[in-house]
Amino acid sequence: MKLTDNEIRDIDRYLESGKSLPDSYRFLLFGDKREVELVWNGKTNEVSTVVLPFQIIEQVDEPREEKDKKMQRTIGDFDARGRQNKGWTNKLIWGDNKLILSSLKNGPLRQEIEKQGGIKLIYIDPPFDIGADFSMDIEIGEESFTKEPSIIEQFAYNDTWGRGNDSFITMIYERLVLMHDLLADEGSIYVHCDWRLNSLIRIILDEIFPEGYRNEIFWRRQPVRGAKATSHQYARNTDVLLFYVKSEKYVWNNAYKPYSKEFIESKFRPDENGRLWRDSDLGDYSESSIEQFEQNGRIYITKSGKKRLIRYLDEEKGEAVGTIWDDIPEVNSMAEERVDYPTQKPEALVERIIKASSNEGDLVADFFCGSGTTLAVAEKLGRKWIGSDLGKFAIHTTRKRMIGVQREMKNAGNDFRAFEILNLGKYERQHYIGVNENLRDEEKRKQLEKKDAEYVDLILSAYRAEPVKNFETFHGKKLNRLIAVGPVNLPVTRLFVEEVINECRQKYITKVDVLGFEFEMGLFPAVQEEAKSKGIDLALKYIPRDVFDKKAIEKNQVVFHDVSYIEVTPHYKDNSVAIELSDFSVHYNQDNAEKAAATLKGGKNRIVVENGQIIKVIKEKSGIVRHVQLTQSWTDWIDYWSVDFDFESKQEIIRVKNVDGDFEEQWTGDYIFENEWQSFRTKKDRSLELTSIYKEYSPGRKKIAVKVVDIFGNDTMKIIEVNIGGK
Ligand SMILES: C[S@@+](CC[C@H](N)C(=O)[O-])C[C@H]1O[C@@H](n2cnc3c(N)ncnc32)[C@H](O)[C@@H]1O
Repeated sequence: MKLTDNEIRDIDRYLESGKSLPDSYRFLLFGDKREVELVWNGKTNEVSTVVLPFQIIEQVDEPREEKDKKMQRTIGDFDARGRQNKGWTNKLIWGDNKLILSSLKNGPLRQEIEKQGGIKLIYIDPPFDIGADFSMDIEIGEESFTKEPSIIEQFAYNDTWGRGNDSFITMIYERLVLMHDLLADEGSIYVHCDWRLNSLIRIILDEIFPEGYRNEIFWRRQPVRGAKATSHQYARNTDVLLFYVKSEKYVWNNAYKPYSKEFIESKFRPDENGRLWRDSDLGDYSESSIEQFEQNGRIYITKSGKKRLIRYLDEEKGEAVGTIWDDIPEVNSMAEERVDYPTQKPEALVERIIKASSNEGDLVADFFCGSGTTLAVAEKLGRKWIGSDLGKFAIHTTRKRMIGVQREMKNAGNDFRAFEILNLGKYERQHYIGVNENLRDEEKRKQLEKKDAEYVDLILSAYRAEPVKNFETFHGKKLNRLIAVGPVNLPVTRLFVEEVINECRQKYITKVDVLGFEFEMGLFPAVQEEAKSKGIDLALKYIPRDVFDKKAIEKNQVVFHDVSYIEVTPHYKDNSVAIELSDFSVHYNQDNAEKAAATLKGGKNRIVVENGQIIKVIKEKSGIVRHVQLTQSWTDWIDYWSVDFDFESKQEIIRVKNVDGDFEEQWTGDYIFENEWQSFRTKKDRSLELTSIYKEYSPGRKKIAVKVVDIFGNDTMKIIEVNIGGK
């Protein structure tokens, strides 16, 4: 850097008077010689380096029968039940993909990914349409009801859209840098976006993948119809896919689509057997090749005596695919593949991408996986996969979809892989209070402390508890119970609760409430039982959304509800046991009937959830208010349930770095729920079986685990002990 004396003096003057430097100094002071670059308020080259442990909470694998096991040559080994127990297991990870990506990049799973040849293809479809992603329509009987986003989802939404395009670009930039790093050298990335952000995303992709640009593809979502056609501009009926590669070594298979009807009609004619053919120039074929064609009856002689090559339609690959994709329709309301996820993309679209940019056996990833379209297509095309999403409902939708794919593959006699559902393990306090990342460290720390204290005070006052000091994990006290407040924008994890239990043991505390917006999957009841065995009465309670509503706090209307409750009954037949789901209750609240009745206009209705009941509040034109309870039976709350017939058979093993810096395997002390049997509602079939199949055992004691996922996507587990052949 060479500055003139004048420039140095100038800079001194600006700094002394506490003013910002003019923009022109950016190019003089910094080494970066990029000529064109997108800059925005908050842009930084720093990316997350956090490594959080992944916890496997469930393994899903449709058991293979004897005949299928022989067919499975490519996958790995199978246990006596026909479940995969070796080789790569696909991964569905619940959590914020920033933390997931940095943990994949810097943590022990990286080695496993590299062993598979690295990630060859990433497709992402981030939430580019403000407000579209986190509310879910849930069917209940004949009615449909909109589940509002959870607080955690709302925080993510604010992170993404709080400051409009600036925050979206900040969000996606950091994640794209991490994805670039994770991609194999032969890897490609497709970023699905639309007119709102394609121009900005393309510029940042140019920066992150220098020389990597391949295509900007326009996907016609739908033909132009109705009002769209008459608005004051051309109808916006396309999405954009930006295709970039990491290096020149990228995987590529030419893509073709069938010829159009018009093209076939204009170019092809039938031969005497009705087989369609056309003729084409012989180009630079050698004499001997032409002779060969003649012997095979592949030469056509024109009226003027010229030789032309005969090409049959059924032997042609079709039309090479260009950058306008107008042959793939959106997922319509009747489509077979529809899973009722609002932003679901068509399988045919992702299929074209996966076929062109990966080969069988390659690892494909989608870090904004939504309903799991990429993962479903990857599995069907024999690719390995990693998917992640922040929404519990998205993870649950994907779980059901992938079980459906496994069943489909099994019925067709094809290979399929087991998949795991993972949580991100341990969160640190600074990740969960939305601190402004653009501040300097000292200011960040101060803001974090302040926000943290405000948040805890708010929750304690809503819970009618008093603050306490000098504890590590406790924030408050109510009657004779100590209160630990969970994070605001992340779920309460097992490690969080374990720290609470440790402090209880050190300080002889026996009664505790842990409050959280969401709880890690598979957390209860195991953690409560663990506490009980140590003499601690541990209650887990959901913090309701209306803690942020001052009036509700003042009126003492805020109800912290308990986690769900499951009752199961084992049925014995000789040495076999079947599990019946005999009761289930939840205590959710969303909105309330009194408020709805007061604010509704005559002739309108609204659906609310009050203490675990879904109620339709109807206000007649006359002003009379009626309540119709939509949840008629406890089973209405259940979307899915599954059974692990031998719960303690699969230990959760993780890889941790030892003192020498090498990774070694360690048992966490927990078990992985193996999803061996399940019943769930689908869009087409809303019925649910309430008793499992009979499972045969050798005599002895066994632990059986039952997992229920409710229609909001939250899960609860229950473990029972059975004594087979016992007296
Ligand atoms: C447009 S949808 C993807 C739809 C998907 N392509 C499909 O076919 O179903 C975007 C998804 O990104 C998820 N998401 C948003 N922010 C996220 C984050 N920070 N980490 C992980 N997932 C996130 C949302 O929950 C949503 O499911």
